[in-house]
Amino acid sequence: MTAKLLSAAPVVDQFKRDLAERCQALKLKGFTPSMCVVLVGDNPASQSYIRNKRRICEEVGASFRLEHLPADIGRNEFLGHVKELNQDPGIHGIIVQLPVSEHLRNLDLPNLVHPAKDIDGFHGQNTQQLYAGTRDLSLLLPCTPKGIIHLLNFYGYNLKGSSVAVIGRSAIVGKPLSMLLTNLDATVTLAHSQTKDIREVTRQAEIVVAAVGKARFMDRSYFNSERRTVVIDVGMNSLNGKLTGDVDLDDVKDFVAAITPVPGGVGPMTVVTLIDNLISAVERTAKGMQ
Ligand code: GUN
Repeated sequence: MTAKLLSAAPVVDQFKRDLAERCQALKLKGFTPSMCVVLVGDNPASQSYIRNKRRICEEVGASFRLEHLPADIGRNEFLGHVKELNQDPGIHGIIVQLPVSEHLRNLDLPNLVHPAKDIDGFHGQNTQQLYAGTRDLSLLLPCTPKGIIHLLNFYGYNLKGSSVAVIGRSAIVGKPLSMLLTNLDATVTLAHSQTKDIREVTRQAEIVVAAVGKARFMDRSYFNSERRTVVIDVGMNSLNGKLTGDVDLDDVKDFVAAITPVPGGVGPMTVVTLIDNLISAVERTAKGMQ
């Protein structure tokens, strides 16, 4: 058995066509979807993510602005920039690119952006919907979890009643994804660095999501080849200058049924989902649903 590669490319193509149509429809109503990324400092990984966001945004006909602030910007000045964007009727989606400089990290970052413009889906008012049990993918929910659900849906995997192991409990991926999967009727086990035996969890699961943040953390010993596991690799690690996932694909490929490649899997799904959130935010504004 050689694992099927769950590439984002066909999903992204389909999404981009749909987003371009929705964007065009909004423009005809007088709304040009516009987003702004606030970048503090010069983190090279952030700059590469931002280039991808800009590209997809422009490809679907939305407009993109970068607010590039110096690494040593004062707290009040930084907050003033975000506030101005919150009040700007010409900007529909805002993201504060993470990580920000050390001296800004104790700000209440998830809640700085107005919830109606929070296309990252980090604001308490938006994440609260996950606690409340939503399964509505048109809400502003965190992009990586939502993108993973879109990818699984596209490739025809049924979540209802399936057992999913999510490895990693970050606020951006592991926690919101475990809730979204639960809302979609999966049975979720959330494991993390303090879990006694992660292999015991991953070997039982039908779907394994690796969101650990360690290059090639999982080898074939984490999988039971009888289970025909579907693996979602969220890892974006740099190893010898190469983008590397949390799963050692070469080692596991004969032990799992399907796996997302890195690069070309979860990463592009996250970006296209961000633009989907932007278009959804504008659609809500256009309908007066704020
Ligand atoms: N940095 C890495 N991933 C993300 C993300 O999803 N959103 C933001 N704002 N910053 C990030």
